[in-house]
Amino acid sequence: EKGGYQHFMLKEINEQPKAVRDTLAGRLPDGSDVKLDDIKLSADDINKINKIFIVACGTAYHAGLVGKNLIERLAKIPVEADIASEFRYRDPLVDEHSLTIVISQSGETADTLAAMREAKKKGSRILAVTNVVGSSVAREADDVLYTWAGPEIAVASTKAYTTQLVSMYLLAIKLGLERGTITEDYAEMLKSELRQLSEKIQKILDNQDTVQKLADNNYTAKDVFFLGRGLDYSVSMEGSLKLKEISYIHSEAYAAGELKHGTLALIENGTLVIALVTQKHLYDKMLSNIKEVTTRGAHVIAVALESMREIEKAVDDVIYIPDCAEEVAPVLAVIPLQLLAYYMAVARGCDVDKPRNLAKSVTVE
Ligand code: M6R
Repeated sequence: EKGGYQHFMLKEINEQPKAVRDTLAGRLPDGSDVKLDDIKLSADDINKINKIFIVACGTAYHAGLVGKNLIERLAKIPVEADIASEFRYRDPLVDEHSLTIVISQSGETADTLAAMREAKKKGSRILAVTNVVGSSVAREADDVLYTWAGPEIAVASTKAYTTQLVSMYLLAIKLGLERGTITEDYAEMLKSELRQLSEKIQKILDNQDTVQKLADNNYTAKDVFFLGRGLDYSVSMEGSLKLKEISYIHSEAYAAGELKHGTLALIENGTLVIALVTQKHLYDKMLSNIKEVTTRGAHVIAVALESMREIEKAVDDVIYIPDCAEEVAPVLAVIPLQLLAYYMAVARGCDVDKPRNLAKSVTVE
């Protein structure tokens, strides 16, 4: 059942090229169009939306943060990404001109369901992004965008996340095209980047030995800090959650620019820092943040694009991911972070598929 893998999590990490391919299948026809058959939103509906809320929990929320960035960038609609258990108790300013996007792998998470019902009561249209056909979220939503990740068994979410990201790109391009806020050339560029993702993920997976070695060298870490800017910050949050959830190592994600506002005090000789460097327009800024921590003795592993070789001079180790447009980099950057968490947890002898205190589907509020 684990297909020769030691754990479901490793199997699911390795299934990502297929999961991403299946989620894109049939949705990227030639030309600039995006085909989302299960979504009935008309051009008119799309043009009337004046605010979008994205609500979800855990990993799905982290996918929502990338969704917020992309939808605002492409469709120029203000987006708030919210943790479901916070959203429902803060009397959000949702109305009939809002679109609420709920993201849930299982489609059964209690807080997400409650948040969705709250938004619906306030008159919002609901679009669900879920992996389970016929789940509660799918049944109660107005529109459904399925991720085709296949069953995810491990408690730690991996292939659901990457397919949720892909769904965010599809939606952002669709909304951008309908509202005329992106050019067809730009949409085609992004579509071509999306089509290449599956192969690029495979390339990273083919090199997992490198990540395993780094995990073996660092698994005794007491604290790990993940740093990034922009989309890299959202991916950092997912990398940090993955690590703490299965390896029980304390870890935190920080927007790299926030370091000097407090966190820098925690960096000492030997502190492990994972720095994400995939956003070309933020490269120089990231480099100075890396300097801030290496000066204080941090051990830095960077996750960077292949073409950024000069980063080697600034850090201790580098995990390279294939070059890509910076918009889609989260889908690639998260793969080494999943592998790092996995191999560190294995090295520590943890029960990777069933971490203590956690359940796959959280059906209590
Ligand atoms: O089924 P859902 O996507 O609604 O689940 C949401 C979270 O409970 C889930 O992503 C959780 O954070 C994972 N264990 C993270 O790996």
